[in-house]
Amino acid sequence: MSERRAAITSLGRYVPERVMTNADLERLVETSDEWIRSRTGIERRHVVEPGTPTSELAVRAAREALERRGVAPSELDLIVVGTVTPDMIFPSTACLIQDKLKATKAWGFDVSAACSGFLYALTLGAQFIQTGAHKKVLVIGADVMTSILDYRDRATCVLFGDGAGAVLLEPSTDETGILDFMNEVDGAGGCHLYMPAGGSARPASHETVDQRLHYIRQEGQHVFKYAVRKMAEAPKQLLERHGLTPADLDLFVAHQANTRIIDAAAERLGLPEAKVVKNIHEYGNTTAGTVPLALATALDQKRLKRRDLVMLASVGAGFTVGAMLVRWSGVDWS
Ligand SMILES: CC(C)(COP(=O)(O)OP(=O)(O)OC[C@H]1O[C@@H](n2cnc3c(N)ncnc32)[C@H](O)[C@@H]1OP(=O)(O)O)[C@@H](O)C(=O)NCCC(=O)NCCS
Repeated sequence: MSERRAAITSLGRYVPERVMTNADLERLVETSDEWIRSRTGIERRHVVEPGTPTSELAVRAAREALERRGVAPSELDLIVVGTVTPDMIFPSTACLIQDKLKATKAWGFDVSAACSGFLYALTLGAQFIQTGAHKKVLVIGADVMTSILDYRDRATCVLFGDGAGAVLLEPSTDETGILDFMNEVDGAGGCHLYMPAGGSARPASHETVDQRLHYIRQEGQHVFKYAVRKMAEAPKQLLERHGLTPADLDLFVAHQANTRIIDAAAERLGLPEAKVVKNIHEYGNTTAGTVPLALATALDQKRLKRRDLVMLASVGAGFTVGAMLVRWSGVDWS
């Protein structure tokens, strides 16, 4: 990779105030707080008021990231948004965010990679810094998962929440920054986690609505097994490229889909709990939001220091796999 690294120089987050607890879900579907906690680690999740679009959460996270760094929206060159719950199919959510922020000179686009959306967006954003094409790139992971959840399907509706995180990428001035990435796709896994209708294959119709096809469908166990394997394999391979081992990592920041997935991956990597970030109990799975929200949690807990070696990792619908090795540059978190 080129010597001009991209560095994460600021971070912002937004989750809606409204909370849905496991007890609230017990009133909607046949489930129990005990089942949800023991199978997923989730205790509550933050959810929007119905009708709140993804761009609204994204803009709040973006404003926080920009304000922390004292950067005006008008200074941005590019906005990349990872999301599977865009406000609408087009224009892209990046365009809507560009307008709301008044990021007058920025161009932008959305990235559809589900739970790997943030890492794919970050990979893309970093390229424009590394080539020297851009100086300030805003990368956002944001999803309103409650807009595509079927509250009659207990196997999926308990898992997800709404949230957004944003980071600012700028050229690194020292040895810190994004060191390397490794992304993969296994398209054969598409049938295990998807939303059947609303695209060109099955446009919205009375029939698709009647059949509840505009919601997430998931074969949980299949996704679970794939996620555990890849969440450990991808980081290991990425480390090997650099002659490193998991023991060299200071922090493992993984996509938050299920505590058991994170624990199993950490165990395969031989990482102690002290090096693993978890906030799924509070937010559930916010899809593209989880990795930046987990970085924010690590900063809250003062577990992320300048020059720390950090592994970001995700597995999502597609299947999509993401891993990124970062020498943390430090952000103002006062
Ligand atoms: C969804 C998930 C938590 C289910 O856990 P699991 O241990 O695999 O559970 P199963 O799907 O085998 O279901 C076990 C039983 O619990 C039941 N069950 C499913 N959801 C339930 C709920 N919310 N409450 C109570 N029971 C539930 C099932 O019906 C099944 O009952 P049965 O044995 O009578 O058929 C787990 O598979 C998972 O986390 N998968 C990955 C999800 C994911 O990460 N998705 C996002 C993309 S990364």
